[in-house]
This record gives sequence, structure tokens and C-alpha cells, in this order.
Amino acid sequence: MKELLNKDVLQLQTSEIRAFNQYAVDNQASLFLTLGEPDFPTPESIKEAAIDSLNRNQTRYSSAQGSLELREAICAFEKKTNRVDYSPEEVMITVGSTEAISTALATLLNPGEEVIILQPAFPLYRQLIQMNRGVCVSIDTSENQFQLSEEMLEAVITPKTKAIIINTPNNPTGTMLDASSLKVIYEAVKKHELFVISDEVYNQLVFTELPKPLSQYTDIKKYIITCQSFSKPYAMTGWRIGYLIADQEFIEEALKIHQYVLSCVNTFIQDAAIAALDYDVKEMLDSYRLRRDYVYDRLRAMGVDVELPDGTFYILPSIKKYGMTSYEFCKQLVLDQGVALIPGSYFEADDYVRISFCVDRNVLEEAMDRLELFLSRLPKAEEQ
Ligand SMILES: Cc1ncc(COP(=O)(O)O)c(C=O)c1O
Repeated sequence: MKELLNKDVLQLQTSEIRAFNQYAVDNQASLFLTLGEPDFPTPESIKEAAIDSLNRNQTRYSSAQGSLELREAICAFEKKTNRVDYSPEEVMITVGSTEAISTALATLLNPGEEVIILQPAFPLYRQLIQMNRGVCVSIDTSENQFQLSEEMLEAVITPKTKAIIINTPNNPTGTMLDASSLKVIYEAVKKHELFVISDEVYNQLVFTELPKPLSQYTDIKKYIITCQSFSKPYAMTGWRIGYLIADQEFIEEALKIHQYVLSCVNTFIQDAAIAALDYDVKEMLDSYRLRRDYVYDRLRAMGVDVELPDGTFYILPSIKKYGMTSYEFCKQLVLDQGVALIPGSYFEADDYVRISFCVDRNVLEEAMDRLELFLSRLPKAEEQ
């Protein structure tokens, strides 16, 4: 059967994160710090807006681009929070950031064109680039505090380079690209006419000041494609809604793909998204900050090398000194202690493991106790 199918599809991988989570379930793990999903329910005001919309029979097709009311609300929100000016014609409502990134790549790429990603990277990017017949080129930022220098970027740019995907704050590191890294990208966009696909799904979940986004630089604005989501800030992962913001001509082309694949995003969920934009995420953010501080302090006390995340609900400790692959480390931790983390290799960062700290505080405390015990029994690479 398979030999009859599309060879490019056969090359794609199913989600390794989900698969490892299942491995942990199958092996009776009891503490899961695996998935990137808020542990809060969706706020009442958002659910009520969806129910109200259903009661008003908002169950017909919406415009393919998304309801004008939601796109206007997004423009106002982006102006208030990121100080960027966009019109509703420059916004398209998508099925999460996943569809926004996928459609952006499909709109941009001719076969064989290259897209740069920064490692550690969310696995979706490589798969979507491949799916759209592009070539994924990665830059390892792990030796540079997860930041980018001009040399690192210029070393991989070729005449075939079409775009760079950035994700700040980043899944899995939790760090943000600093002003200097963003300047490097800004200069490269101007010099090489590169597009930037800016995956900003965590930019409301930030514990420090957010640097000026690239879309604020009006001279490169037409090269900036912003992908955004309601999933993470508003605990709406299952609602499947996000948006894409870009130059109007880009949106007009992207809309063709979106329209033929999906028609439009669910109408009553778009109404709920309008209510979401009015919801203040501070309470959730404060709770993530407390959990981040707790996990960071515990890891440091265990003698683990780790950077303090600027945002998200992930932290990425280094396991380099234990001389194991990240898969072997995570597998042993499941089997010995029933604690499930995610191997860094899934993010192209085998010296690390990802901890998702958006879980109950008691689970976090117990998991850290067991991790401490596990580490205390592991010989360090230099002792082996
Ligand atoms: C960095 C990053 N981008 C995109 C997504 C996809 O989000 P959505 O639910 O909006 O499709 C995720 C989800 O985990 C993510 O971590």
C-alpha cells in the first residue's frame, strides 16, 4: 500500500511528544510533565460567549478570512499590546497557530527553497517545511544561550533561503530572543529579502519585559508574518483557533489555501475568541511564574545546569553531564521513578530534557523529589 502513496508524506513523522507520553502511560508512569497544555479550564466569560453565540444561532459559515468583528478586535488588541498597526484586511483567522504556520509556508515556498529554524525548535516546523516541499536548515543556538549572532545566521543563508521561523518566547527553552538577536534578523531581512514567520503563541506568557517585536519596524513590515494562537494564553487548546497577520497581498494568496482546505473557522468559536481578547491572563501568568521559580530553584539545588525561562510554561535543563541520550534519560526516569519528561532530541537538542511545569503544584513537588533521587543515583559522565 505505502509504495502507492505520496513519498513526501511517508517521510513525515508523527508526533514524538505524543508517542513518548503514551510510552509513559503504557509503563505506568504516575507524574506527567510532558504536554504543553495549560492546566486551567477555559475562563467562564469565554465559554459563555460561545454558548451565547450558539443560542443566537451563529452556526452558519463565516467569511473565509474570519468575522470582521474578530479581525477588528485583533487589530485593536495588537495595537494595545504590541504597538503594531494592522488593518482587518491583513488578518486571517486560522485553526490555531498550527494552521497559520502551515498556510504561511504553503504560501511562501517553491519546491527546494530553504527555511531556517533555530534549535532547540518546536518539532512542528521541520515537518511542515518538509510537507510543503521546502528544505529545513537549522542553526544550533544552545552554545550561545539560545541567542543568534550575525555569524551564525549569515553562515547558513544561501540564494535559496526564503524565510526564517522564530518562536519567542521559545518552546522548549522558555527564553526570548534578545534585542541583539532580533537586530541580526532585522538586518538579514533587509539585506537578503527574507521572510520572518514569527510564531508568537507564548508572547502573553512572559515574566519579564517583551522586547520590541520585529513587526514594529515599519521598513520590513511586509516581510513579517505573525502566527498567533488562543490556545496557550486563554487555556483554549481544544478550541482550535488562532490567526495570521501579514501584508494584505500575502493574506489574499494565503486565503486561497485556507478557503479550499477549511472553508472557514467555526463561527461561534470566533465569537468566543472576541471575548478571550478581553480576558486578563495575569492570574494564570502569576501562577506559572510561581511554578517556574519553584522548578528552577529545585533544579539549581540539585546541581543541574539550567537557564531561567523568560516565559512559557517550559524549562529545559541540561543533562549533558550524565552522558546519556535524552531519550535514554527520560526512559529510565519513567521506569525508575514513574516521572515523564520529554526528550530534548525531539526538539533537536539531545543534551536537554523538557519539563512542562503547567501541572498541579503537588505533582510538581513530588516529581522534583523523585527527579532528585534519580539524579543522585546517576554517575556523571566524567565519573564513568
Ligand atoms: C511553539 C508552538 N507553536 C505552535 C503551537 C501550536 O499551537 P496551536 O494550538 O495554536 O495550533 C504550539 C503548541 O504547542 C507551540 O508550542
